[in-house]
Amino acid sequence: MRFRRLRQTEALRSLMSETRLAVTDLVLPVFVQDQSSGRSEINSLPDVYRYGLEDLFAYCEMLCESGIRALALFPVIKEDLKDKQAAEALNSEGLIPKVIRQLKKRFPELVIFADVALDPYSSDGHDGIVKAGKVLNDETVVQLAKMAVVLAESGADFVAPSDMMDGRVVAIRRALDQAGYIDTGIMSYAVKYASSFYGPFRDALQSEPKMGDKKTYQMDPANPREALKEALQDVQEGADILMIKPAGMYLDVVSQIKQRVHCPVAAYHVSGEYAMLKFAAEKGCFNYEDALYEKLLCIKRAGADMIFSYGALEMAEWLGR
Ligand code: PBG
Repeated sequence: MRFRRLRQTEALRSLMSETRLAVTDLVLPVFVQDQSSGRSEINSLPDVYRYGLEDLFAYCEMLCESGIRALALFPVIKEDLKDKQAAEALNSEGLIPKVIRQLKKRFPELVIFADVALDPYSSDGHDGIVKAGKVLNDETVVQLAKMAVVLAESGADFVAPSDMMDGRVVAIRRALDQAGYIDTGIMSYAVKYASSFYGPFRDALQSEPKMGDKKTYQMDPANPREALKEALQDVQEGADILMIKPAGMYLDVVSQIKQRVHCPVAAYHVSGEYAMLKFAAEKGCFNYEDALYEKLLCIKRAGADMIFSYGALEMAEWLGR
């Protein structure tokens, strides 16, 4: 047997390829800030920016030209709008609802994933409401369900709870249905580990927790069985898509969930994973695009149907060459 027979040329290798990364697998996470135009750099996240409105529209033009069809929005909220209840999250005239309405007008085809979590709006920097040093579950869920309705009303295709409170998927599904948004989907961050690799994201949003960490709600990186329980529960509660996050170091989890759960699986190549590639490439460790391709391809191979990555646009350009 000579395995190398099938590896002789690029054409042969592509015929034998068992996994293909397509532009349509990619979702671009985008940071928006309340400004009419302009964009600002993020120290820990090279080549990623916080966008003001006009620049966001130009960026979305590029996105549509690249063949990518979906984006995930994250807001940078001014400090003076943050409070303990994260009240701004329910403001239907707030930044994200405004952005969604405008994007839907200009780019009706673009699929919009709107994040549901309180951290960008919370003066405590937690995904839920904090009282006496504790992140309250059920009080937070009430708030999240209202937030989801505001986002659906603005035109989001999917609401994406990334908070890891228990019972929020069913609460959100009920609230959406009662408000008449039966076609708005839920992508649940069903399996979200308490990871160091969210660092640059918190830098981008200035949303670092003011006290403690997120380990009472995000999962222990040691636990794959618990991931399965979380995933099955969210399917039962009515999630349309399950997200696993981070992606790269949790491929075993992606793979198991893909085998056991029959709904689309998303994986998030998170900010720290992206930044590592950028900084390592900058130092000459490898070619950035080659390394990114390998990383995203392997996430796909593990079972992800769609991949959220800050490198999505660069990857789309590279795939289209
Ligand atoms: C919080 C949220 C986080 C990310 C997405 N939503 C950070 C956190 O949990 O602190 C991280 C994404 C990334 O690192 O790219 N709701």
